[in-house]
Amino acid sequence: MPASTSDIVIVSNRLPVNRVERNGKKQWETSPGGLVSALTPILRTKPSTWIGWSGIHGRAPRPFEHEGILNYPVSLSPEEIENFYEGFSNSTLWPLYHDAIRPPIYHRHWWRPYKAVNKRFAEIAAKITAKNGLVWVHDYHFQLVPSMLRKLRPDVRIGFFLHIPFPPQELFAQLPWRRQVLEGLLGADVVGFQTRYGAQNFTRLCRRYTTCSPSGRLTYEGRPVIAKAFPISIDVSRFEGLASDFDVQTRAANFKAKLGLGRRILLGVDRLDYTKGIEIRFKAYRELLKTKKVSLDDTVFVQVAVPSRERVDEYIELKNEVERTVGAIDGEFGEIGKSAIHYLHRGLPVDELVALYLAADVMVVTPFRDGMNLVAKEYVACRHRNDGALILSEFTGSAEELKQALLVNPHDVDGMSDILLEAIQLPAEEQKRRMKKLRRIVTGHTVFDWANDFFEALDK
Ligand code: G6P
Repeated sequence: MPASTSDIVIVSNRLPVNRVERNGKKQWETSPGGLVSALTPILRTKPSTWIGWSGIHGRAPRPFEHEGILNYPVSLSPEEIENFYEGFSNSTLWPLYHDAIRPPIYHRHWWRPYKAVNKRFAEIAAKITAKNGLVWVHDYHFQLVPSMLRKLRPDVRIGFFLHIPFPPQELFAQLPWRRQVLEGLLGADVVGFQTRYGAQNFTRLCRRYTTCSPSGRLTYEGRPVIAKAFPISIDVSRFEGLASDFDVQTRAANFKAKLGLGRRILLGVDRLDYTKGIEIRFKAYRELLKTKKVSLDDTVFVQVAVPSRERVDEYIELKNEVERTVGAIDGEFGEIGKSAIHYLHRGLPVDELVALYLAADVMVVTPFRDGMNLVAKEYVACRHRNDGALILSEFTGSAEELKQALLVNPHDVDGMSDILLEAIQLPAEEQKRRMKKLRRIVTGHTVFDWANDFFEALDK
């Protein structure tokens, strides 16, 4: 063991920092995500390290401290980016775990680098974790790390959390390496999922394809393994704070004025991913325009599509499809100075995002499948006036909690057109009734509660 070790080690594909250029100088900046803000307070209480891909090509920088957290960057070669990240992680596991919305691709020459990269991360974690320390591994990129690490360091408590859905047997059984993946996860003491369905699927699959106990509590190689739902959330007070900030509210008012006072604003905010159902919501909106149930005078759609995995074929195709659809709708219904859809293909700073949440009358969240979907929770956290309508796909983890949203089956275009119209026309009293309940749920379980619950389960 090296001279300085950490009591808590986090393993995830992305580090909690991004390399950015400010005034011509390259520097690290803390990533805006909820995971980072949730873990930071806990990591600051003990010597801790976060291991992750630096996101940059070439040799990884040496470990460095940033805002109280020790970052341990790991490099990936161009071949590993292609085979481990774009290949096995994002063209095999990602579609398979999201209901096979796109056909998962199985290549043996992707599986080998997946194993090799998992091994490298497990070895680093084994080297830097203190005796009896705790390692928390995140997401589908690293499902083999728990068992690899356990072999190297049986003294360590190991947790794993899957941020995306865990599929049922009918789908998972396709995976040529299904047993190895399950055994990889079983190396953990606690395996966390977004919903109870994920935990149930995992437990069933373990009993079917591994030597796990066939019934009763899940045990593997004589060791208990906890498989449980830990629904993730957001930093609620951060969003509430921004939503009550004067400048943000002014910006929201400006957005409304620019988009046209009196027009109901429909908003979508997503990574540009084929799981998000972006094209289907446009189809439904187009139907409403076509049948004249709504017009450009009374509604406008704003879609923020954050660029993602831009070298993967399916993402390139999706971008073309979405942009073609937006162009077609605006071509058909738009007028000079008045668009039907405002499409922004970029990420936005969080204050601008909150201003949009404040401006939006209807938030449209329609994934075909989503582990949780935090945009839905962010919108609710920002609506402190208890108004606005949330349309939410039944196939998101959030729909398990946000039952007062206007729930929709994203495969049903007619159903979605109906619900869009219902949301646009939702009476103020009904908005208030629903939003009050939604806000109670979102504010009652923050990302800090999520992190504490997981650490508590792991610390036992
Ligand atoms: C999902 C995954 C994360 C991933 C994120 C962005 O939320 O669960 O693990 O980091 O998408 O995708 P990217 O491939 O850019 O890291």
